[in-house]
Amino acid sequence: MSTVCSQKPRVLTGDTPTGQLHLGHYVGSVKRRLELQETHDCFFIIANMHAFTTRAQEPADIRRDCLEIVRDYLAMGIDPDRSTIFLQTEVPAISELTYLFAMLLPFNRVMRNPTLKDEIRDRGLGDRYSFGFPLYAVGQTADILAFRAHSVPVGQDQVPHIELTREVARRFNQLYCGVSDQAADADHVKLGGVFPLPVADVGPVGRLVGTDGKLKMSKSLNNAIFITDSPQVVKRKIAKIYTGRQSPTEPGDPNNALFQYVDTFIQDKDRVAELRDRYARGDNIGDGHIKPEVAEAVNALLAPMRRRRGLYEGDDDAILDILKAGCERANEVAEETLGMAKDAACLKFFDRELRYR
Ligand code: TRP
Repeated sequence: MSTVCSQKPRVLTGDTPTGQLHLGHYVGSVKRRLELQETHDCFFIIANMHAFTTRAQEPADIRRDCLEIVRDYLAMGIDPDRSTIFLQTEVPAISELTYLFAMLLPFNRVMRNPTLKDEIRDRGLGDRYSFGFPLYAVGQTADILAFRAHSVPVGQDQVPHIELTREVARRFNQLYCGVSDQAADADHVKLGGVFPLPVADVGPVGRLVGTDGKLKMSKSLNNAIFITDSPQVVKRKIAKIYTGRQSPTEPGDPNNALFQYVDTFIQDKDRVAELRDRYARGDNIGDGHIKPEVAEAVNALLAPMRRRRGLYEGDDDAILDILKAGCERANEVAEETLGMAKDAACLKFFDRELRYR
């Protein structure tokens, strides 16, 4: 592979493969990644081992979802020539660092992670979750630190994981690299630490409401618009967005669910201002007027995505080629990091080389 050693700041983020990506993923995170890939050295991890925390009984589905997510990335505009898309399980340094990092965190500290607690509650896992379930949070610190990423663009719910990552980095640098416990977070690498302390980069939108008009857009809540939806399906789904407004002359709330769509997808900002104004005054403008305009705007956004996705439909080999190149590039960086970490922790006995066939 022709990898030029990049001087751009490194960013890492990713997704657990759960099925196709939807408009909420685009608005909440992929759009931000498209901006970042212009200016940063971006690594996008497909966290397929994390999918096993709750779906270990369906490995073939997880494998299929990995390929689907790559199709969606490409469709949405992630450019594999500029960004590195890779599979968590094809980068062994991540698993090795996970084991080592697990020694640096008190068990009870991991279990206090509020995102883990929320997931245990929301998924009704009770006390039946696997040993590997809380371990995924430690694994996520390794996903990030294996790339010595400076910034991690994520939604608000992921911030506790980044905080945990900073703790691991701090502890490692103090224990094994002689960094003082008085050192400022930003100085760790300068003072000899292997790992920079990454910052969470939380985007402004974060959360697109689903077509039920109430809850966050999510596949499992059946309120999602997928980029593979046809223009007619998009129109029908948007027509269902519920606002509770009764008539075109009733003053409406220009901050309701429908208007989140107006604000997010209608590009002509004068038109948006006009719609808001007339809606708020109840100036003879019904939800039924606005919805087709929103659907048209969403379809205009999705049209090039559908077209790009069509290029890869059914062609698993093309997707696997992209992933293989991404995994090779990811391993170059992660193996280098692992070597540095093993050296610092007196675990470096031999040099090794990792190569796919
Ligand atoms: N846990 C994240 C999610 O479910 C996905 C993820 C895995 C991730 N590893 C990561 C995100 C590293 C950011 C950085 O959305």
